[in-house]
Amino acid sequence: MRVKLFLCAALTVVFCLALRARAVQAAPWDIDMNQQQSLKTSEVARSPVRGTVPAGRRRAHQTLEEAEGRLTNPVARSARSEASGERMWNVHCAVCHGRTGDGMGPVGPMVGAANLLRPLYQEKTDARIYGVIFYGLRAMPKQGYKLSPEEAWDTVNYLRKLQELDAAGGTKAEEGGK
Ligand code: HEC
Repeated sequence: MRVKLFLCAALTVVFCLALRARAVQAAPWDIDMNQQQSLKTSEVARSPVRGTVPAGRRRAHQTLEEAEGRLTNPVARSARSEASGERMWNVHCAVCHGRTGDGMGPVGPMVGAANLLRPLYQEKTDARIYGVIFYGLRAMPKQGYKLSPEEAWDTVNYLRKLQELDAAGGTKAEEGGK
Protein backbone atom coordinates (compact mmCIF):
# COMPACT_ATOMS: atom_id res chain seq x y z
CA MET A 1 0.00 0.00 0.00
CA ARG A 2 2.76 2.42 1.00
CA VAL A 3 4.70 1.64 -2.13
CA LYS A 4 1.64 2.38 -4.21
CA LEU A 5 1.08 5.69 -2.44
CA PHE A 6 4.71 6.62 -2.91
CA LEU A 7 4.55 5.76 -6.61
CA CYS A 8 1.41 7.84 -6.99
CA ALA A 9 3.00 10.85 -5.32
CA ALA A 10 6.17 10.47 -7.38
CA LEU A 11 4.17 10.31 -10.62
CA THR A 12 2.21 13.43 -9.67
CA VAL A 13 5.46 15.31 -9.00
CA VAL A 14 6.95 14.23 -12.35
CA PHE A 15 3.74 15.21 -14.14
CA CYS A 16 3.69 18.67 -12.53
CA LEU A 17 7.34 19.24 -13.40
CA ALA A 18 6.69 18.26 -17.01
CA LEU A 19 3.80 20.72 -17.25
CA ARG A 20 5.95 23.47 -15.74
CA ALA A 21 8.76 22.80 -18.20
CA ARG A 22 6.30 23.19 -21.07
CA ALA A 23 5.00 26.44 -19.65
CA VAL A 24 8.39 28.10 -19.28
CA GLN A 25 9.92 26.77 -22.53
CA ALA A 26 13.03 25.95 -20.54
CA ALA A 27 15.79 25.33 -23.06
CA PRO A 28 16.59 26.44 -26.62
CA TRP A 29 16.02 22.92 -27.95
CA ASP A 30 12.59 22.86 -26.32
CA ILE A 31 11.00 25.02 -29.00
CA ASP A 32 7.47 24.18 -29.90
CA MET A 33 6.35 23.75 -33.53
CA ASN A 34 3.79 26.48 -32.96
CA GLN A 35 6.52 29.04 -32.60
CA GLN A 36 7.87 29.28 -36.09
CA GLN A 37 8.01 31.74 -38.92
CA SER A 38 4.90 30.94 -40.86
CA LEU A 39 2.05 32.67 -42.62
CA LYS A 40 -0.93 33.30 -40.38
CA THR A 41 -4.49 33.01 -41.67
CA SER A 42 -5.23 35.57 -44.40
CA GLU A 43 -1.55 36.58 -44.77
CA VAL A 44 0.11 36.52 -48.17
CA ALA A 45 3.70 35.50 -48.76
CA ARG A 46 4.85 38.83 -50.08
CA SER A 47 3.03 42.05 -50.77
CA PRO A 48 4.25 43.99 -53.81
CA VAL A 49 5.98 47.28 -53.12
CA ARG A 50 3.37 50.05 -53.10
CA GLY A 51 2.83 51.56 -56.53
CA THR A 52 4.38 48.67 -58.49
CA VAL A 53 2.51 46.79 -61.23
CA PRO A 54 2.99 43.29 -62.65
CA ALA A 55 5.32 43.32 -65.70
CA GLY A 56 3.36 43.75 -68.92
CA ARG A 57 0.17 44.81 -67.17
CA ARG A 58 -1.12 48.07 -65.81
CA ARG A 59 -3.49 48.02 -62.91
CA ALA A 60 -6.16 50.68 -63.21
CA HIS A 61 -6.40 51.23 -59.45
CA GLN A 62 -4.30 51.27 -56.28
CA THR A 63 -6.96 52.05 -53.68
CA LEU A 64 -10.60 51.28 -52.95
CA GLU A 65 -11.59 54.82 -53.97
CA GLU A 66 -9.78 54.50 -57.32
CA ALA A 67 -11.39 51.13 -58.02
CA GLU A 68 -14.80 52.57 -57.17
CA GLY A 69 -14.32 55.63 -59.38
CA ARG A 70 -12.67 54.05 -62.40
CA LEU A 71 -14.04 50.55 -62.94
CA THR A 72 -17.17 49.27 -64.61
CA ASN A 73 -18.32 45.66 -64.42
CA PRO A 74 -16.99 43.96 -67.59
CA VAL A 75 -18.67 40.61 -66.87
CA ALA A 76 -22.30 40.35 -67.95
CA ARG A 77 -24.69 38.52 -65.65
CA SER A 78 -25.24 35.03 -66.98
CA ALA A 79 -25.89 31.55 -65.64
CA ARG A 80 -22.15 30.83 -65.96
CA SER A 81 -21.07 33.95 -64.11
CA GLU A 82 -23.60 33.48 -61.31
CA ALA A 83 -22.66 29.82 -60.87
CA SER A 84 -18.99 30.75 -60.55
CA GLY A 85 -19.94 33.63 -58.23
CA GLU A 86 -21.98 31.29 -56.05
CA ARG A 87 -18.97 29.03 -55.64
CA MET A 88 -16.71 31.97 -54.73
CA TRP A 89 -19.35 33.40 -52.39
CA ASN A 90 -19.76 30.15 -50.47
CA VAL A 91 -15.98 29.68 -50.15
CA HIS A 92 -14.83 33.25 -49.40
CA CYS A 93 -17.78 35.32 -48.18
CA ALA A 94 -20.48 33.13 -46.60
CA VAL A 95 -18.47 32.50 -43.44
CA CYS A 96 -19.16 36.13 -42.49
CA HIS A 97 -21.98 37.37 -44.70
CA GLY A 98 -24.00 34.13 -44.60
CA ARG A 99 -25.08 32.01 -47.55
CA THR A 100 -28.02 34.35 -48.20
CA GLY A 101 -26.03 37.58 -47.70
CA ASP A 102 -27.77 38.60 -44.46
CA GLY A 103 -24.55 38.90 -42.43
CA MET A 104 -25.38 35.94 -40.22
CA GLY A 105 -22.63 33.50 -41.24
CA PRO A 106 -20.95 31.52 -38.42
CA VAL A 107 -18.58 34.40 -37.57
CA GLY A 108 -20.67 37.26 -39.04
CA PRO A 109 -22.04 38.66 -35.77
CA MET A 110 -18.60 38.45 -34.10
CA VAL A 111 -16.98 40.77 -36.64
CA GLY A 112 -20.05 42.90 -37.40
CA ALA A 113 -20.37 41.65 -41.00
CA ALA A 114 -22.73 43.79 -43.05
CA ASN A 115 -26.21 42.57 -43.97
CA LEU A 116 -25.72 43.04 -47.71
CA LEU A 117 -29.43 42.64 -48.44
CA ARG A 118 -30.19 46.07 -46.98
CA PRO A 119 -31.10 48.85 -49.45
CA LEU A 120 -27.92 50.72 -48.42
CA TYR A 121 -25.84 47.93 -50.00
CA GLN A 122 -28.21 47.33 -52.91
CA GLU A 123 -27.48 50.90 -53.95
CA LYS A 124 -23.67 50.52 -53.93
CA THR A 125 -22.18 50.27 -57.40
CA ASP A 126 -20.65 47.07 -58.75
CA ALA A 127 -17.28 48.84 -58.80
CA ARG A 128 -17.59 49.68 -55.09
CA ILE A 129 -18.29 46.03 -54.22
CA TYR A 130 -15.40 44.91 -56.42
CA GLY A 131 -13.15 47.40 -54.63
CA VAL A 132 -14.25 46.14 -51.21
CA ILE A 133 -13.51 42.54 -52.26
CA PHE A 134 -10.11 43.60 -53.57
CA TYR A 135 -8.97 45.93 -50.76
CA GLY A 136 -11.17 44.99 -47.77
CA LEU A 137 -12.81 47.63 -45.59
CA ARG A 138 -12.20 48.24 -41.87
CA ALA A 139 -13.04 44.91 -40.14
CA MET A 140 -13.39 43.12 -43.49
CA PRO A 141 -10.11 41.53 -44.58
CA LYS A 142 -9.18 41.87 -48.24
CA GLN A 143 -10.20 38.86 -50.31
CA GLY A 144 -9.07 39.99 -53.75
CA TYR A 145 -5.73 38.22 -53.85
CA LYS A 146 -7.53 34.88 -53.65
CA LEU A 147 -9.71 35.57 -56.70
CA SER A 148 -8.98 36.39 -60.32
CA PRO A 149 -10.60 39.67 -61.44
CA GLU A 150 -13.20 37.66 -63.35
CA GLU A 151 -14.04 35.58 -60.29
CA ALA A 152 -14.42 38.75 -58.22
CA TRP A 153 -16.86 40.23 -60.78
CA ASP A 154 -18.72 36.87 -60.81
CA THR A 155 -19.03 37.24 -57.03
CA VAL A 156 -20.46 40.75 -57.46
CA ASN A 157 -22.98 39.35 -59.97
CA TYR A 158 -23.96 36.60 -57.55
CA LEU A 159 -24.45 39.11 -54.72
CA ARG A 160 -26.85 41.01 -57.00
CA LYS A 161 -28.77 37.78 -57.49
CA LEU A 162 -28.95 37.21 -53.70
CA GLN A 163 -30.24 40.77 -53.26
CA GLU A 164 -32.93 40.23 -55.90
CA LEU A 165 -33.95 36.88 -54.44
CA ASP A 166 -34.41 38.53 -51.06
CA ALA A 167 -36.30 41.47 -52.50
CA ALA A 168 -38.68 38.96 -54.12
CA GLY A 169 -39.12 36.97 -50.87
CA GLY A 170 -38.61 40.12 -48.81
CA THR A 171 -37.54 39.31 -45.26
CA LYS A 172 -33.85 39.11 -44.45
CA ALA A 173 -33.06 42.72 -45.33
CA GLU A 174 -34.89 43.59 -42.09
CA GLU A 175 -33.99 40.62 -39.91
CA GLY A 176 -30.31 39.95 -40.68
CA GLY A 177 -27.12 41.39 -39.20
CA LYS A 178 -26.20 45.06 -38.92
C1 HEC B 1 -13.97 37.89 -42.02
C2 HEC B 1 -15.33 38.29 -42.34
C3 HEC B 1 -15.66 38.75 -43.73
C4 HEC B 1 -15.47 38.08 -44.92
C5 HEC B 1 -14.83 36.70 -45.14
C6 HEC B 1 -16.04 38.91 -45.94
N1 HEC B 1 -16.52 40.07 -45.39
FE1 HEC B 1 -17.46 41.58 -46.39
N2 HEC B 1 -17.63 42.64 -44.65
C7 HEC B 1 -17.21 42.20 -43.42
C8 HEC B 1 -17.42 43.25 -42.45
C9 HEC B 1 -17.08 43.17 -40.97
C10 HEC B 1 -18.01 44.33 -43.14
C11 HEC B 1 -18.42 45.69 -42.58
C12 HEC B 1 -17.25 46.63 -42.78
C13 HEC B 1 -17.56 47.99 -42.18
O1 HEC B 1 -18.49 48.66 -42.65
O2 HEC B 1 -16.88 48.36 -41.23
C14 HEC B 1 -18.13 43.91 -44.53
C15 HEC B 1 -18.67 44.70 -45.53
C16 HEC B 1 -18.85 44.28 -46.84
C17 HEC B 1 -19.47 45.08 -47.89
C18 HEC B 1 -20.06 46.50 -47.74
C19 HEC B 1 -18.97 47.51 -47.96
C20 HEC B 1 -19.47 48.93 -48.05
O3 HEC B 1 -19.52 49.44 -49.17
O4 HEC B 1 -19.79 49.52 -47.00
C21 HEC B 1 -19.45 44.31 -49.03
C22 HEC B 1 -20.02 44.70 -50.39
C23 HEC B 1 -18.82 43.04 -48.69
N3 HEC B 1 -18.47 43.07 -47.36
C24 HEC B 1 -18.64 42.02 -49.60
C25 HEC B 1 -17.94 40.85 -49.31
C26 HEC B 1 -17.66 39.82 -50.28
C27 HEC B 1 -18.17 39.82 -51.71
C28 HEC B 1 -16.92 38.87 -49.64
C29 HEC B 1 -16.31 37.62 -50.25
C30 HEC B 1 -15.47 37.78 -51.40
C31 HEC B 1 -16.74 39.29 -48.26
N4 HEC B 1 -17.37 40.50 -48.11
C32 HEC B 1 -16.06 38.57 -47.29
C33 HEC B 1 -16.64 40.98 -43.12
C34 HEC B 1 -16.31 40.01 -44.04
